Amino acid sequence: MSVDVLIPEAAIRDRLRELGGEVARDYAGKPLTIVAVLTGSLIALADLIRAVDVPHRIGLVHASSYRGATTTASTLVINETLAPDVADRDVLLLDDILDTGQTLAALVDHIAQRGAKSVRTAVLLRKIGRQTVPIEPDYCGFTIPDAFVVGYGLDYDDDYRHLPYVGVLKT
Ligand code: IMP
Ligand code: MG
Repeated sequence: MSVDVLIPEAAIRDRLRELGGEVARDYAGKPLTIVAVLTGSLIALADLIRAVDVPHRIGLVHASSYRGATTTASTLVINETLAPDVADRDVLLLDDILDTGQTLAALVDHIAQRGAKSVRTAVLLRKIGRQTVPIEPDYCGFTIPDAFVVGYGLDYDDDYRHLPYVGVLKT
């Protein structure tokens, strides 16, 4: 398998800085907690928060959908062993990619039920033509075509997360 670069490292860096600036403006003076969805959004989290120049907490939640390698969705399992207390916090949920929308929609409900004051969403990538659940991300890095992508945190079978760019996996 090989990987064709889709979004170069510098473009991701610049875009996350922009988004971080927007988040900082929107949440200035608010009790912000950025909750990253493991494992795919780890690298985006690290880069985004360094551009969010207002006080905020970070938290982690693990969600996995136990789907087949690259396509059909199945049951979402949320593991919140590491999840922070979000009561009365303004939560920004960060995921690597919005594909069908199932993961993000389920986590928004989940965090709202945990007593968050508000819940908004940020995604590094949004894949077009795949969404089955109606959810509009409040912050979106890049819109991408319907291809399976890896790198910058995104995996195929738990590999390729370390690539510094986002690329299309070719079989
Ligand atoms: P959704 O619930 O269908 O929106 O799927 C979101 C999750 O599926 C993401 O958090 C990723 O873990 C995974 N995913 C969806 N598309 C891709 C892809 O192209 N590459 C790698 N992971 C993907
Ligand atoms: Mg994944």
